[in-house]
Amino acid sequence: MTEKVALIGSGNWGSAVAKIVGGNVQKFDHFQNEVKMWVFEEQVDGQNLTEIINTKHENVKYLPGIKLPENIVACPDLIKTCEDATMLVFVVPHQFVASVCKQLKGKISPKCKAISLIKGVDVEENDNGFRLITDMIQDSLGIRACMLSGANIATEVAEERFCETTIGYRNREDGELFEAIFHTPTFRVNIVEDVVGVELCGALKNIIAIGGGLVDGLKLGDNTKAAIIRIGLYEMRKFAKMFYADVRDETFFESCGVADLVTTCAGGRNRKVAEAHVTTGKSFDQLEKEMLGGQKLQGTSTAKDMYGILSKKGLCKEFPLMTTIYRICYEDLPPIRIVEDI
Ligand code: NAD
Ligand code: 13P
Repeated sequence: MTEKVALIGSGNWGSAVAKIVGGNVQKFDHFQNEVKMWVFEEQVDGQNLTEIINTKHENVKYLPGIKLPENIVACPDLIKTCEDATMLVFVVPHQFVASVCKQLKGKISPKCKAISLIKGVDVEENDNGFRLITDMIQDSLGIRACMLSGANIATEVAEERFCETTIGYRNREDGELFEAIFHTPTFRVNIVEDVVGVELCGALKNIIAIGGGLVDGLKLGDNTKAAIIRIGLYEMRKFAKMFYADVRDETFFESCGVADLVTTCAGGRNRKVAEAHVTTGKSFDQLEKEMLGGQKLQGTSTAKDMYGILSKKGLCKEFPLMTTIYRICYEDLPPIRIVEDI
């Protein structure tokens, strides 16, 4: 049987991975050539973004300057994008996954396999207080889900500068199948049997990235940044183990762990906006609109989600860095408290 891949999402990262996946499916006989990509339709200079992508083969809004392979077909209809697919790649900002899953319920093949590239969690009234995105996909659509996460700033990946990434799997065959559509000589995939560890690393590092930006804005220097990264890694591991005892220590040494934390505290959007929050005094919401051109900040909302869980469970004192970052983002705490309160 040949596999048919569909991409759900077409932002900065979605478009960068479209370039990789579109290229890779052409290399192997067991993948169909065409890859549909769901685009949340919008107008760019009076034209539909889908039409621009399908004629110029470039996502001029979210990944300008990078040519996409011609077998990537932008589609504004989510159901049409996915109805004949056997492999689904979820790559929308985390706040939109619930609505995507709701629309897809009952509309996809039960034989589909999924992978999430999304860094975030879903707030949920269960024992943990949150649900993993891979669990949300599995539970709502009845299909297995892997997770891909790593030190992967989209533009650098799209420019084919060497980096690594991590795929977490429950079923090794699924892990290897997804490895085939993502691995390239400049985007090196390592697969590990730890979906939860890979996913929590990706979600939690976005909170710590805000911390990295705050210390940059405060001009505290490299030693302070390294301290934030170290404490951040410690809290990420502690949180993951507290909620999921099976998460592996080795996962934190993969690209999805320490490497993503380093890259995101050096060059990510969360870092950039947090630095501007210190230097301008503007709110994160306003800066997201002014600085990101439609791209979405994931760290502030994840900080809020995690703070909700920590405070409900009386755990704030055990996670001082994540708690302080939340308070700076949402309770007008002066940014300098990032080093005073941890
Ligand atoms: P983005 O922030 O660049 O773009 C936002 C996207 O959301 C756009 O495609 C926009 O059309 C879409 N959108 C807006 N409103 C919507 C709605 N109501 N419903 C559905 N979609 C809507 O997106 P991205 O960078 O591709 O991020 C997707 C995920 O990938 C995130 O979880 C992010 O953390 C993760 N990620 C990003 C990078 C990166 O460097 N950009 C790298 C690795 C992982
Ligand atoms: P930002 O969302 O902060 O840009 O991080 C991108 C990323 O996840 C790099 O691995």
